[in-house]
Amino acid sequence: MSNDTTTRSAAALAGRLTDIRRELHRNPELSHEEFETTRRIKSWLEAAGIRMADYPLKTGVIAEIGTGSPVIALRADIDALPIQEETGLPFASIVPGKMHACGHDFHTAALVGAAYLLKEQEQELKGTVRLIFQPAEEKAKGARQVIESGALEGVRAIFGLHNKPDLPVGTIGIKGGPLMAAADGFVVEVAGRGSHAAVPEAGNDPVLTAAHIVTALQSIVSRNVGALDSAVISVTKVNSGTAWNVIPEKAVLDGTVRTFDPAVRRRVRQRFDQVAAGVAAAFDTTAVVRWIEGPPPVYNDEGLAELAWREAERLKLLPVSPVPSLAGEDFAAYQQQVPGLFVFVGTDGPKEWHHPAFDLDERALPVAADFLAGTAIRAISNFAAEPQDPKEDFQ
Ligand code: NI
Repeated sequence: MSNDTTTRSAAALAGRLTDIRRELHRNPELSHEEFETTRRIKSWLEAAGIRMADYPLKTGVIAEIGTGSPVIALRADIDALPIQEETGLPFASIVPGKMHACGHDFHTAALVGAAYLLKEQEQELKGTVRLIFQPAEEKAKGARQVIESGALEGVRAIFGLHNKPDLPVGTIGIKGGPLMAAADGFVVEVAGRGSHAAVPEAGNDPVLTAAHIVTALQSIVSRNVGALDSAVISVTKVNSGTAWNVIPEKAVLDGTVRTFDPAVRRRVRQRFDQVAAGVAAAFDTTAVVRWIEGPPPVYNDEGLAELAWREAERLKLLPVSPVPSLAGEDFAAYQQQVPGLFVFVGTDGPKEWHHPAFDLDERALPVAADFLAGTAIRAISNFAAEPQDPKEDFQ
C-alpha cells in the first residue's frame, strides 16, 4: 500500500518519521531508564518550535500545542523490553539484551509526526492538544506516574494507539467497550516437607502439589467462566528444588490472569484461591497465593469511538472493528479518570508483540500520525461546540 491514503502533509513526513523510528529502535531503553529517549523526543519537538509543559516526571515528555480549552491529550508509550533482538535489520538494537519488541518506537515516532502536523495548524486550533510521551508502560507504572504528575488535569478526552501486526497498513481498529484485558499477576508458594528422593513417604512433596495446581487451575477457565466470556490463566514460572535426589521444602509458581469483565475477574480470583488451597490440602501441603493487581481493562468510550471512526473515513483510511486483545495496557489507568479511546493501527508485521523477531511496516507511520492529529482536531471542534457547563465558568 502506498502513502496515497494519508494527507499530503503526512506523506511528506514519511521519511523523517522513519528516521526517528529507526533512531529509537537502534537505542532502546527499559522502563524508567528512558533518559536518552526523553532527550531525543524533546529535541525533535523543540526543533519544530513546540513548547514543553513542566510536570515532575523523571523520564517521559509532556508538551502542548495551541491554547485554552478544550484540552485533548494524545498519548504514546516510549519504553523497550529486555529481549535480545533477532531481526537482523540494518537498524537493529545496538544495546545487548534490549529491544523495541512491542513497537513503542513506532508509537513515539507517530506522536512526534502528529505533533508536527498539529503545529502546522496551530493558528486554527480552538483549544489545546497535550502530548504525553509516557514512560514505563511495560511495567504498568508509567500511566499512574503521569496522572500523579498532574498532566491529566483539565483533559477532556485522551487518545492512544498500539500497532497491530495482524492488521494491514491503512486500517485502524476502532471499537467502543472493552479492547484490552485486565492483566493481573500471581505468585503461589507451596510449602511441603523435604525428604530423601528415595523416601517420599517421609516428607510432603511440594513439586507434586505444584504440578497438580498448574493442571487444576485450567479448570477455572473451562468450568467456571462462561463459554462466551473471556479469561486466560497462564503459569509462566515454576521454581523448586536444588538436587536430583532431594525432595525440596517448597515450590513457587508465577503467572498471569487476563480478563475483560470485572465480574469474571472477581470470580477467577475467588476460584483461584480455592483451587490452590484445596489442591494443596489434598496433598497435605499448604499454598499461599499472592495477587499482583495489574491495570484494569482498556475500556473505550463509545462516543469517542464514533468520532474516531468518522475521522478515519474522512482521511480515507480503513476503519475496522478489531478483535479485542488479552494483552494488558496501562492506558486503562487514564480511562479511569477521563473518557478515552485506544485504537489499533495496522502494521502488518511478521510476528506478535514481544517476539525477538518483531517488526512492522513503516508505511503505517504517516497513517498513525495523520489519524492522531485529525482525531485531536475533530475532538477539539466537537467539544468546543458543546454548550458550556455553567459550573465550569467558576473553576
Ligand atoms: Ni506495547
